[in-house]
Amino acid sequence: MRDRPIVTIDGPSGAGKTTVSRRLAERASLTRLDTGAMYRACALAARKAGIPWSDGARLGRLCAELDLSFPKGEKGEPGVALRGEDVSDAIRTPEISMGASEVSVHKQVREAMVSLQRKLGERGGVVLEGRDTGTVVFPDAEAKFFLDAAAAVRAKRRFLEWGAGGRKPFEEVLREVLRRDIRDSTREHSPLRMAEGAVYIDTTTLTVEEAVEEMLRNLPDGARKGLGL
Ligand code: DC
Repeated sequence: MRDRPIVTIDGPSGAGKTTVSRRLAERASLTRLDTGAMYRACALAARKAGIPWSDGARLGRLCAELDLSFPKGEKGEPGVALRGEDVSDAIRTPEISMGASEVSVHKQVREAMVSLQRKLGERGGVVLEGRDTGTVVFPDAEAKFFLDAAAAVRAKRRFLEWGAGGRKPFEEVLREVLRRDIRDSTREHSPLRMAEGAVYIDTTTLTVEEAVEEMLRNLPDGARKGLGL
């Protein structure tokens, strides 16, 4: 038995998982585990080591020994470090986004990451966000959510994030978002799908606060008690 619940949030890119899980973590005093950041760190580490994103066996070995940590930034914002080096920004580029999607298809990579995620979260009091956190990592989580939004809105959110430097036209961002969604939901191992018992929330027209309120309203009783809400 866990003293405090595990909350999982899965969904496609741009559905709002990151902002919503940050806010939920603050509201309910949970530790946040961004599992996507771990696959991103794997893609970046592979690039630095000259390992192709298609080489499952070598990537699996790399991930099993990945020296990952989650230091807080100057303003307390959550960060990611590889061998002690802050890579919070380096893992957020469009290239590494696609790389994360590519490395995450491999069974060896998934096994290494899921085992680490279980170790980090098993004591509870945690909100995990990703693609398989409610289906594979913690299918027994006390509360599970699936966040979704219209593809154009999801791409617009990414565009505003990435496009600030005017790097890519919106149509290209939309194409990339759709390509990543297709790969993430059609891969053989742990494809993105809604977990059994998950609550579906469409964030297309919701603000972050509205989405969090909707989640809090839909918390199963057991999880609500454990969160002290
Ligand atoms: O959530 P994100 O955009 O940071 O995730 C990057 C990629 O990592 C995503 O395209 C698929 C992969 N991923 C995964 O396979 N399983 C997870 N639990 C989280 C992310």
